[in-house]
Amino acid sequence: MKILVINGPNLNFLGIREPGIYGKEDYNYLMQMLSDYANEKGFELETYQSNHEGGIIDRIQQAYFDKVDGIVINPGAYTHYSYAIHDALKSIEGIKKIEIHISDVNSREAFRHVSVTLPACDGQVVGEGLKGYLRAIDMVLESK
Ligand code: DQA
Repeated sequence: MKILVINGPNLNFLGIREPGIYGKEDYNYLMQMLSDYANEKGFELETYQSNHEGGIIDRIQQAYFDKVDGIVINPGAYTHYSYAIHDALKSIEGIKKIEIHISDVNSREAFRHVSVTLPACDGQVVGEGLKGYLRAIDMVLESK
């Protein structure tokens, strides 16, 4: 079982950006948490972070050729307007896709209430902090 976790723009700035919203733990902490979970649950983990839309699309397409079983994706602000990422996710029909947001996007600014990427995914986790990534992984594992 191979799971790819993709993080979009500004998520490399975890711990620095708006800690009142995203928490004090940094990106490396998140990577360690995911790696520990992969060891505990026995799945193969791949991770990718980019601040660039095209890089994220290239990585989603690569996942098709790599035959990953599931993708957990936090598209960051691209969530709210990237039809290109929507289309990339939609292209890889056989792969389970779960969208995750650290913060509770639905209780924040109106522009965050819309996700154009969610319709291309199989589920969503919102507002559970970094632990939400583990829940999203569980949703992929449970589907197999
Ligand atoms: C986010 C929410 C987005 O609205 C925001 O642009 C982010 C992070 C989250 O994880 O809560 O960059 O996806």
